[in-house]
Parts: sequence; C-alpha cells; structure tokens
Amino acid sequence: MHLMKPLFATLVLLGAVSLPAFAAEGGRAGRGNVEAGKDKSLACQACHGQDGAAAIDPQYPRLAGQYADYLARALHEYRSGARKNPIMAGFATTLSDQDINDLAAYYASLPVTLVDLARNPAVARD
Ligand code: HEC
Repeated sequence: MHLMKPLFATLVLLGAVSLPAFAAEGGRAGRGNVEAGKDKSLACQACHGQDGAAAIDPQYPRLAGQYADYLARALHEYRSGARKNPIMAGFATTLSDQDINDLAAYYASLPVTLVDLARNPAVARD
C-alpha cells in the first residue's frame, strides 16, 4: 500500500498542471488572436459577409459564432485537401497555421447566427 501515495500525488500533480492548459485552449476562441484575425478576414468577406454571417448567398456557410476548433479544422482540411472544395482550397493554401488560428478566433468571437435547421425547416436548404 505504500505505493499508493506517490501514485496519488503524481495524479494530482498531473491534474494540476494539465487542467489550466486545457482550459486556456478550450472555449470558442481557441488559440488565435481575435484582432489579427479581423485584419486577415478582409479576403473572406466577399463570400462569408462582413460579419461572417453571409446573407450574400446560401452556398457560403456562416462562420460567425462557430467554434474556433471547428473553423480551424475546416481550414486545415481545405489546405491539406482532406476536405475538397476548389474555392476554399484556393484561399486556405495561402494561410499559415497562425493565420488559421487567428481567423478561427475572430469568427468564433462574433455573435452566434447559427441556426438548427432541424428546428427551422423554413431555412433548410436540402
Ligand atoms: C469566393 C468565395 C469565398 C471566399 C472569398 C472565402 N470562402 Fe470560405 N467558403 C466558401 C464556400 C463556397 C464554402 C463551402 C465549401 C464546402 O462546401 O466545403 C466555404 C467554407 C468555409 C469554411 C467551412 C465552414 C463550415 O461550416 O464548414 C470555413 C471555415 C471558411 N470557408 C473560411 C474562410 C476564410 C477564413 C476565408 C478567408 C481567408 C474564406 N473562407 C474565404 C467560399 C468562400
């Protein structure tokens, strides 16, 4: 039983170290810089709208209020080709990892305009 104490202490220590790190990276904003992302979003506005909630054309998804991790993942996948879209691939290949984090943080910081299509058939597209 004398082994239990050090093990317990180690677990407590691990928890104490890793929990704040996790909290800092979690949430909607993610790891990017919102202000820098705002500057970098000029190229995106033509399609996704000035506020990231494009009413311009339904083929352009709303980005405002989406989770940063989701946005960053989508951009990484367009860049790598894992998610295929010729329009977005053209933009994503010009982005660095930092650009992606900043853009994701910026769009995630905007007011949520996402809707649940299942609850609102009037705006469902398919
Ligand atoms: C010429 C129009 C156009 C421009 C400019 C553009 N996008 Fe897009 N974007 C699209 C289209 C169309 C889609 C949907 C593609 C698909 O179905 O995968 C999309 C999808 C996305 C998605 C995935 C959203 C989701 O809900 O899955 C993200 C994230 C995104 N764009 C970010 C950006 C960022 C950041 C920029 C600026 C660097 C940008 N886009 C510029 C047209 C554009």
